[in-house]
Amino acid sequence: MQDRVVVHPARSVRGRVRPPGDKSISHRYAMFAALADGVSEISGYSTGADCRSTLACLAGLGVSIEELGREPEGLRLRITGRGLRGLQAPARVLDAGNSGSTIRMFAGVLAAHPLTATMTGDESLRGRPMQRVILPLERMGARIESEGGRPPLTVHGRADLTPIDYAPDVPSAQVKSAVLLAGLQSSGTTSVVEPLATRDHTERGLEAFGVEVQRDGLRVAIEGGQRLTARNLGVPGDISAAAFWLVAGGSLSGSEIVIHGVGLNPTRIGIVDVVRRLGAAVDVAPDGGVDRRVGSGEPVGTLTVRYQGVGSTVITPDEVPGIIDELPVLAAMATHGGELRVSGAQELRVKESDRISALADGLRAMGGDIDEQPDGFYVRGLRRLRGGEVDARHDHRLAMAFAIAALGASGPTTIHGAGAAAVSYPEFFSVLEGLCA
Ligand code: S3P
Repeated sequence: MQDRVVVHPARSVRGRVRPPGDKSISHRYAMFAALADGVSEISGYSTGADCRSTLACLAGLGVSIEELGREPEGLRLRITGRGLRGLQAPARVLDAGNSGSTIRMFAGVLAAHPLTATMTGDESLRGRPMQRVILPLERMGARIESEGGRPPLTVHGRADLTPIDYAPDVPSAQVKSAVLLAGLQSSGTTSVVEPLATRDHTERGLEAFGVEVQRDGLRVAIEGGQRLTARNLGVPGDISAAAFWLVAGGSLSGSEIVIHGVGLNPTRIGIVDVVRRLGAAVDVAPDGGVDRRVGSGEPVGTLTVRYQGVGSTVITPDEVPGIIDELPVLAAMATHGGELRVSGAQELRVKESDRISALADGLRAMGGDIDEQPDGFYVRGLRRLRGGEVDARHDHRLAMAFAIAALGASGPTTIHGAGAAAVSYPEFFSVLEGLCA
């Protein structure tokens, strides 16, 4: 994909799309299949670079992964499990690329293996905070070297970790998952109590692979030593990718987009509510509830979005974990004549880029009116954007959010660093072209 993309204004967007396989679920199914007993087949696996990084790391740890084909929903993979604590010491440094989920969840997986492994990533990942996983995993007995709390991470794992009860101070599904995956491979009960609920794909995914997970409100606990059984599972479409089409369809007059095969996990559908509050009509049609065909425990369905004007809303701190990845594109929606205030979203500053400052710089470069706060932003969209030159700072979600904002501008927008879209949605710009009238 080109790193510089020009997006022209569009009158409306119309059509039918199936988003790529969910990034969060793809990472997890690949890891769980690798730790399971037997051979799993995973279909609809994300074609994004992040999920390929997870596969490359698993291959480096001795896991056999066969790519059986590429379907419209994503990749079909055959993964031969190595069983609990069955990964091999890597011969080389493992490269997690741009993927925070990969490095943080692997930290938990590797902490429980009696081996030493070093993981690194690209420039963005090497700047991201890892203390949040180092701290609990060291309390369990692993030793993890880092560069002042950032990657590269060298994990010195051990087979006899001590289970812990952990209460992280940041709501993070990656941290929760790292601790639970370490706990699953030690003896005794490990629990995590979250400050706010985060996505629960690890809990549902482990259950799908036959593990018993105890859940009680914000507490999740797991009894170590349970073995995973190989499964054939389909990954639902990614609602965080669908978010771009929900916003595009809700922002341009005369628009209607049908998004099918999309994951409707309750911990991820916060975006639907916010897009509705900003004015769009969104119809949610579950495919007969939980997808029993694949037995994944992840609900799937169709979202239909229709434009009916853009208004204003406020996002409160307790809503943030459920829409953390969608905040940049929600800011883009507000530029189409609405208004959006967000607070309690300081985590945005430690994502693939500092998403608060990069968003403010980018929208301003397009003629937007946005105030930046330490923990959020305030976008006023009454003045139409003019377009211009924006820097996505090699951040996939920003590249795509700027593209959706650009559709409503009076002139063209050149997005630098747009190639980053391939991290989660390689087909994004071609799908966008197909939807534009
Ligand atoms: C993810 C959790 C979130 C999210 C990221 C994917 C996951 O990160 O932003 O894109 O798959 O668990 P945090 O755990 O850092 O909040």
